[in-house]
Amino acid sequence: MELGERTLGISRRELLRRASAAVAVGAMGKLAFGEAAIEASSAAAKAGGAFPEKFLWGCATAAYQVEGNDTNTDLWMLEYLPGSMFKDHSGDACNHYHLYPQDIAMLADLGFNTYRFSLEWARIEPEEGFFSNAELDHYRRMLAVCHEHGLTTLLTYSHFSMPRWFAMKGGWENPQAADLFARFCEKATRHLGDLVDYASTLNEPDIPQLLNWLDLPGVAAGMTVAQMMQAGLANVRKQVNAPQFSNFFMGDGKRNREGLLAAHAKGRDAMKSVRPAMPVGFNLAMQDDQAAPEGSHLEEKRADVYGPWLEAARHCDYLGVQTYSRSLVGTKDLPPPKGAELTQTGMEFYPECVEHVVRYAAKETGVPIIVTENGIATEDDTRRVAYYQQALAGVKRAIDDGVDVRGYVAWSLMDNFEWMSGYTPKFGLVAVDLKTQRRTIKPSATVLGNIARRNAL
Ligand code: BGC
Repeated sequence: MELGERTLGISRRELLRRASAAVAVGAMGKLAFGEAAIEASSAAAKAGGAFPEKFLWGCATAAYQVEGNDTNTDLWMLEYLPGSMFKDHSGDACNHYHLYPQDIAMLADLGFNTYRFSLEWARIEPEEGFFSNAELDHYRRMLAVCHEHGLTTLLTYSHFSMPRWFAMKGGWENPQAADLFARFCEKATRHLGDLVDYASTLNEPDIPQLLNWLDLPGVAAGMTVAQMMQAGLANVRKQVNAPQFSNFFMGDGKRNREGLLAAHAKGRDAMKSVRPAMPVGFNLAMQDDQAAPEGSHLEEKRADVYGPWLEAARHCDYLGVQTYSRSLVGTKDLPPPKGAELTQTGMEFYPECVEHVVRYAAKETGVPIIVTENGIATEDDTRRVAYYQQALAGVKRAIDDGVDVRGYVAWSLMDNFEWMSGYTPKFGLVAVDLKTQRRTIKPSATVLGNIARRNAL
């Protein structure tokens, strides 16, 4: 009897039965496609050869996007401000905080061997200096359930959201931020570290700087995303009556970068001081940057956005890379080429990005690479299958050429709260009915899970 079963009150067999029923329901009219895709995959397996032994095959989530009711965070507060830039309220999200036993069992039953998820710092340290053993125990149970299902655990200590008190004091721009984060890392590692296979200090700490380069739909002409965010910051500071307020998305890119670099270094040292053997890295957001035909600032962008982080990665045990598409770099990122197929988040459908990015990241850092996020936002699951198959073919080519890639983690296990864009973009392998919390397995989950099980395309 496993903890997952006890907590759920249903057997593994029943869970599987419900899951297959869900596939049948969820894939109505698409089942034929699902089967065809599975067959095509098996044929490719025979032709393509296996991935390395012990390759990590996983799915990822992040606390704020799936747990629900992360009320002590900066983001929850921002969601409820008048004129909020959040399209939806996160609310109960996927209620993963309570439903994790069945979600983790589902992931394992699909064929994956790895789960990447994150801690919600604001739950563990809801007030500065108070560490909740009850909440630490919650994450300990999550890690334990993973191990009961034979899963490797990738634990991210901070994935964008932060405790409200931390944001009120200036977030990552606060000169004490690194020490405050390191104390949290030390406490969490003491409580959880023996169950963590790969720890990550920070998710995509290069985003604040990357926002200076992005051109996204919905941003006023001539403005960068960073400028738009900062325009909102002055107002938020008044609304929350905190002149220092800053957070991951809204702060000054360069000051945030300094704070995040220091937080990573001190956080890493704190983790290592408790568990020297625990592999520690972080997850870098990387676009497949390509030079625009004229006037490209490609190298300047790389140095600005990734440079200090690639340097930090050289002192890590591994680097997690996260990529979704390419960008053509002019003076800033240019919009996708005319006529390109776009995903729900306005990105170009470009699965080749993974191969290019792992080659680049491995060459620049010399440390083992794990793809810790890759995926596509679409309502059309056939495109998700195509995306994953092409992405993985590229990863395999890189591995065959000697690039040290240790794993591939899909974003995301479930459709979830996509930050400011709310619940519209569908990145999940599994659909979630937000009213009933019913999970429906999509054909792409079966296809990817079978690739994982076979360890071959
Ligand atoms: C983030 C995820 C996000 C995903 C898709 C990554 O930048 O780590 O939290 O949901 O991209 O946009």
